[in-house]
Amino acid sequence: MIELRDVVVAYDSRVILDSINLTVEDGETLVILGGSGSGKSTLLRLLIGLQRPTSGQIIVDGVDITTISEDEFNTVRQKMGMVFQYSALFDSMSVGENVAFGLRQHTDKKDDEINGIVSERLDWVGLRGYESYMPNELSGGMKKRVSLARAIALDPTLILYDEPSSGLDPITSGTISMLIRGMQERLDCTSIVVTHDMQSAFYVADRIALLDKGKFIEISPTEEFKHSSNPKVQQFINGAAEPIHIVARRDV
Ligand SMILES: Nc1ncnc2c1ncn2[C@@H]1O[C@H](COP(=O)(O)OP(=O)(O)OP(=O)(O)O)[C@@H](O)[C@H]1O
Ligand SMILES: [Mg+2]
Repeated sequence: MIELRDVVVAYDSRVILDSINLTVEDGETLVILGGSGSGKSTLLRLLIGLQRPTSGQIIVDGVDITTISEDEFNTVRQKMGMVFQYSALFDSMSVGENVAFGLRQHTDKKDDEINGIVSERLDWVGLRGYESYMPNELSGGMKKRVSLARAIALDPTLILYDEPSSGLDPITSGTISMLIRGMQERLDCTSIVVTHDMQSAFYVADRIALLDKGKFIEISPTEEFKHSSNPKVQQFINGAAEPIHIVARRDV
């Protein structure tokens, strides 16, 4: 479904992604790990077309998205849903309007149908009946769930999650992990999840990739990843989770 070929992102002379290669299969859930500033969000932004690479190719469903026009990208983007690192809800819109946003922009569905989809998606994320709430009336975990409901409104075949559980308590994080798996089953989609939360990574991932100094230093199935002999992988699994989690708490 997705293929990255020699993708480079550089700001002036600072290379963030250094000729990376990656293939993500249809229906797979890939977790991307990496230290703060390693380029994880950048990678997701490339996939959803918020940013173009400095060089290299990105193929999504057979289309090279690095060369298409913004108009053509809009068509590809409708197959993608993204849960942003900071939820990124529209603060001046109600929960229902946030979830309906893409449906109004990209479809000519009538209000009744849109309202039906909105309430169904809110129900899927455990927020049935919350349509009229404003984002500032919600907790961090609820905002993430609204963000997920919005991301799945258009039945995406690819869902991108940028630190969906950052800043959440372990129980709420667990709920989000279960939702990620639930979406996978309901929509039969491909998912890419950026996280610092190892428990969540192990729960949702088919494969795990570790980004370090601009390169993937390990990409392997979850069980293999856990037992990798790469010292950086073990260091990440055992050592990195706690301090990074504390930093990530500022996100909410
Ligand atoms: N517009 C920009 N101009 C210059 N540098 C940038 C720009 N956007 C991102 N960067 C740099 O690219 C690097 C990767 O940023 P990115 O947000 O992808 O990291 P990340 O892995 O998502 O980190 P975190 O875990 O903290 O969210 C950082 O060092 C950042 O400073
Ligand atoms: Mg990030």
